[in-house]
Amino acid sequence: MTNRAEHVIEVEKLTKRYGDLLAVDDISFNVGKSEVFALLGPNGAGKTTTVEIIDTIRTPTSGKVSLLGMDVTKKKHDIVPRIGVLPQGFNSFDKITVRETLQYYSRLFHRRNTDVDGLIELVNLKDKTKEQYKNLSGGLQQRLGIAIALVNDPEVVFLDEPTTGLDPRARREVWDVLLGLKKKGTTVFLTTHYMEEAELLADTVAIISKGKIIAKGSPAELIENNANHLVLTLQSADEKAFEIVREMGFEPVHDYHNDIKVRVENTDDIRKMLNAIKEAGASFHGLDVRKPNLEEVFLKLTGEALREGPAAGRGAE
Ligand SMILES: Nc1ncnc2c1ncn2[C@@H]1O[C@H](COP(=O)(O)OP(=O)(O)OP(=O)(O)O)[C@@H](O)[C@H]1O
Ligand SMILES: [Mg+2]
Repeated sequence: MTNRAEHVIEVEKLTKRYGDLLAVDDISFNVGKSEVFALLGPNGAGKTTTVEIIDTIRTPTSGKVSLLGMDVTKKKHDIVPRIGVLPQGFNSFDKITVRETLQYYSRLFHRRNTDVDGLIELVNLKDKTKEQYKNLSGGLQQRLGIAIALVNDPEVVFLDEPTTGLDPRARREVWDVLLGLKKKGTTVFLTTHYMEEAELLADTVAIISKGKIIAKGSPAELIENNANHLVLTLQSADEKAFEIVREMGFEPVHDYHNDIKVRVENTDDIRKMLNAIKEAGASFHGLDVRKPNLEEVFLKLTGEALREGPAAGRGAE
């Protein structure tokens, strides 16, 4: 928990309407100095609307938002030089190189002494300084976007879905950069629909669904408070094992690899289940017990998956 004096962002009863659509519905939260705060939610939940109201790009319908102690609707010109923003779906100039891009943005902020080399090193683009933007892979483009957000040595950085659309390896490389920022104590406001990202990076996660914040806390608190069960996986289990588990009153499900997943309350349940399987001569080739993740918390709270497609609801990938 942070003291009020340390709050870098204060959002109080924020609401945003687009005509009849209520995109953000009376949300309140604070972000402390050096905190990594993640707004986690599915498409259309209101993440970009919220972040862009805080970083002065959009205006609220009602409510009070202050950033660095200033009202975002009144002090835009004082706020902007002190923050960094990576907008959703960021794009830059195709034919300009990595180094030139950073030099351009630092001039835009009237920064004569931006440490361009330091930034290039921070986002791990040292081998690409002479590469044109259009020739960078998606992950490298995002890392350049993060460097751009940092040219003015901002006190708060806003990153709207920094890893959406990247393959798992490129995503991990962006996470490394973000972990570096976290280590330096930069205050980061992140939006994402990847629960692994929120779990890995965020000190505080606010789960947003249909414009409302439905839960908030550290990843561990959210899991503890909302999904206090275990998930047992029986690998390559046969049909007999499935039936036994079902007859015991559990609700087993098959996943994509012919494994059985069962929600259990405690290790005693697991012991009973394994004994019954053994006695009946049914088989499985291995097992895994784990705590639920934020995806399951989200599912439990909303009944919806965080993401569309086959990965949704599947747990850690
Ligand atoms: N400028 C706009 N005018 C009208 N409606 C908008 C506008 N921007 C967003 N919306 C609507 O407001 C709701 C919230 O959108 P928002 O972009 O904030 O969600 P999001 O959580 O960022 O989604 P995504 O994960 O797809 O980026 C959506 O229903 C969206 O269609
Ligand atoms: Mg968005």
